[in-house]
Amino acid sequence: MSRAYNFSPGPAMLPEPVLRQAQATLLEYGEVGASILEISHRGADFLAVARQAEADLRTLLTIPDDYAVLFTAGGATTVQALLPLNFAAPGQPCDYVISGHWGKTALKQAAPYVEARIAASSEAGGFRDLPPREQWQLSPDAAYVHVTANETIHGVEWRHIPDAGAVPLVADFSSSIASEPLDVSRFGLIYAGAQKNLGPVGITVVIVRRDLLERAGQPRAPILDYRAIAAAESMLNTPPSWNWYVLGLTVQWMLEQGGVAEFARRNARKAALLYDAIDGSGGFYRNEVAPAARSRMNVPFFLHDPALDALFLSEAKQAGLIGLKGHRVLGGMRASLYNAMPEAGVQALVEFMRQFQATHG
Ligand SMILES: Cc1ncc(COP(=O)(O)O)c(C=O)c1O
Repeated sequence: MSRAYNFSPGPAMLPEPVLRQAQATLLEYGEVGASILEISHRGADFLAVARQAEADLRTLLTIPDDYAVLFTAGGATTVQALLPLNFAAPGQPCDYVISGHWGKTALKQAAPYVEARIAASSEAGGFRDLPPREQWQLSPDAAYVHVTANETIHGVEWRHIPDAGAVPLVADFSSSIASEPLDVSRFGLIYAGAQKNLGPVGITVVIVRRDLLERAGQPRAPILDYRAIAAAESMLNTPPSWNWYVLGLTVQWMLEQGGVAEFARRNARKAALLYDAIDGSGGFYRNEVAPAARSRMNVPFFLHDPALDALFLSEAKQAGLIGLKGHRVLGGMRASLYNAMPEAGVQALVEFMRQFQATHG
């Protein structure tokens, strides 16, 4: 058996050295006489793992000291539901800039708790572009403005997220965190499910400016309270310790590879390779996103004849290229090019696409 190039949107491809290290320590972790899966999260051995992962993530993303880093279970969607509970006072609205499916999800998760307003949306155009800043209708009294840095399904990405004035920006970076340098200080809060660029599914990172933790929010149980979670070092209850460990390994790998500046270079090259192949195919393949809004991480594309979709996927699999089926919302294909995807994987995909076109075009 050999490992394929896996273009899945998440859970996604992990770096092979990370998987090997996880495998090597699965049975026995260091000198503890047990797997890391089997030891207390409150013991010195796991605490060292957890704190190192946080320290390394702070280095990787240059997270300032006035930001807390939380490691939570429940995925990015649970964060979306907890944002209004933690940061919006009763009666206070929250603004949402909707650039795709995940922005809509964020709005839907918040709507039961607060007045969640649509400040701007690109839905009328099928989410093929971003809502321009001039069209954002912000509420001066909003608790925050929510944006989605990269829309994993629609394949649109902000090259620069606009400022929102005095209201804190809250950004879903699930599918583009650590893919390029990021100025954390421009945001009130950044969150990301780990299962794309940060490693394993089952753990989510929330980076939040500490002063926002003092916000009144809505009445909520301690387990839903980010201030309480921060005070307990994300261990109010048993954390997803294995996922935390593998996240730490993935962050270490990214640092060893040269950090986010190096991944920015690699990701730009990978995306250019694939978009050039699509655009140069004479219409056999097409991507419908406005060029300036095209995602470097998730590239949705369509074959000129959808009747060829199933054949494309099965021949791709035979060629060692998997995870290319598009999301059911859009159909077609999607290639996710996260940090763990080597350039050789994208070259193999592009070569396969050329051959497939030559045979079936
Ligand atoms: C941008 C974005 N936000 C949120 C989510 C939801 O994440 P989760 O499944 O961890 O709740 C996803 C999942 O793919 C995503 O891509």
